[in-house]
Amino acid sequence: MDLTTFDTATFLSDYWQKKPLLIRNPWNSWCNPLDPDDLAGLACEDGVESRLIELAAGDWLLEHGPVAEERFSELGGKPWTLLVQAVDHYVTEVSALIEPFRFVPNWRIDDVMVSYATQGGGVGPHFDQYDVFLVQGLGRRRWQIGGLCDDASRLREHQDLRLLADFEPVEEWILEPGDILYLPPRVAHDGVALSDDCMTYSIGFRAPSRADLLGNWTDDLLEEMPEEDRYADPGLQAQSNPGEISTEALGALHGMVTAALADRDAFTRWFGRYNSTRKYPDLDWAPETPLSAEDLRDLLAEDALVSRNPASRFSFVRQGGQSVWLFVDGECFECSGASAALAERMCAVPDFVVEDDVAQDDQALDLLVRLFNQGSLGVETEE
Ligand code: SIN
Ligand code: CO
Repeated sequence: MDLTTFDTATFLSDYWQKKPLLIRNPWNSWCNPLDPDDLAGLACEDGVESRLIELAAGDWLLEHGPVAEERFSELGGKPWTLLVQAVDHYVTEVSALIEPFRFVPNWRIDDVMVSYATQGGGVGPHFDQYDVFLVQGLGRRRWQIGGLCDDASRLREHQDLRLLADFEPVEEWILEPGDILYLPPRVAHDGVALSDDCMTYSIGFRAPSRADLLGNWTDDLLEEMPEEDRYADPGLQAQSNPGEISTEALGALHGMVTAALADRDAFTRWFGRYNSTRKYPDLDWAPETPLSAEDLRDLLAEDALVSRNPASRFSFVRQGGQSVWLFVDGECFECSGASAALAERMCAVPDFVVEDDVAQDDQALDLLVRLFNQGSLGVETEE
């Protein structure tokens, strides 16, 4: 499915990270990509992150998955909603929903959460830290939005859910199948299902906080730092007051920190690996017996379509000349020549055919072997 009546350039300049936008069914022909029963089935599986929220006596009750199958028949007539995280990792049709939004780079994309609600169901008024496209899949939902929130916004006293205490809607829309509501980070919102079989696909983004960057990068840097790398003052001069921490000493101390943080190559390497680390590592395509270069060459010989594992994260950083650093699932691959071109191609499209001349290139083949063996790439084979 493609977006036909959607102008990316205008969206990016006027709305992205700036203000909400309702996009009335922009698809060439919208078709709900997942059956409600299949979503319920996923929520029952171990290892799939899901939540069930029931609305009872004006309050929201949260249960974490996996959901026991019989739970659905016990819910009765009360409004409820089921939310399943990262459905794009399990369902190809849902992962295809991300493709039209790839005008946002891979590294900023998180995953697709899918919700199912009965009439009146919803998660309550709240705000998120990330941009989201809320695609209405099936049924109807009323979305109300309020102002911008932050850490100081008052929350309801609730054990499990971060619900806004003072939600004041300023705008509302009723979304029909195919309609999309874009929300930038921190906009208060509340979606209530107006029908049974209400399904919403949240195409979610991510943006690291400064605290995440600093905390995680320094943890990584610390692993490499020898004990003897410490402050030294062979030129120490006697001070008039021994209590003073001199400007020179402070400059040297601060310099030790800033010099470590100024290492751009180390940052690039760390960030690429950190950012490409999978959120749910257990979903694995890795073959039971590792493939050899020969095995893979045979596999590719028939113009086989190679696919990225939808749970894998692919991105690259250009180095000088024709080289790139490719980051996949927490690993860094230094690529040049044919393997660099291949790396760029696999970051650009979710599936591709490996041309003969590329398969003949040892470095490119080695890259493919490693990505197949770590479960980041796969090929459809006839059963
Ligand atoms: C939903 O699909 O019900 C909730 C999505 C959201 O508000 O973030
Ligand atoms: Co939300």
